[in-house]
Amino acid sequence: MSLKKTAKTIAMTAALVALPMTASTAFASNGEAVYNKTCKMCHARGMAGAPKLGDAAAWKGRIGQGMDTLYTHAIKGFKGKGMMPPKGGNSKLSDDDVKAAVDYMVEHSK
Ligand code: HEC
Repeated sequence: MSLKKTAKTIAMTAALVALPMTASTAFASNGEAVYNKTCKMCHARGMAGAPKLGDAAAWKGRIGQGMDTLYTHAIKGFKGKGMMPPKGGNSKLSDDDVKAAVDYMVEHSK
């Protein structure tokens, strides 16, 4: 293989490798988009006892339950002192959308 051809192959491989990386970035921003659209109205201000985004103290104990519990509570709803509606009240969201939003919230509240 000539040097030029090898360089071309490397460039093409790099382009292929870059694709899944773009896809995972899209996934992360999807969580943010879901949060902004559905969860923010309660979780930005701590309405009705909702743990606020970025409030590490409010999230610490909740994160301690484990991500699976948080996912389940966000998808099916959860009643503590306040009331977390199933899927934040938006039944059109898929379970994965809700999980992505939980990931986004937890990631920004540590
Ligand atoms: C109508 C207001 C409201 C909306 C909209 C809302 N939440 Fe909540 N959420 C709450 C309240 C209130 C709590 C706290 C419940 C408690 O512990 O008393 C809560 C708690 C949670 C918890 C912690 C559950 C636990 O086990 O401690 C997670 C995770 C969560 N919400 C995720 C979400 C996600 C994801 C969305 C958007 C898809 C969302 N919430 C939308 C009000 C809301």
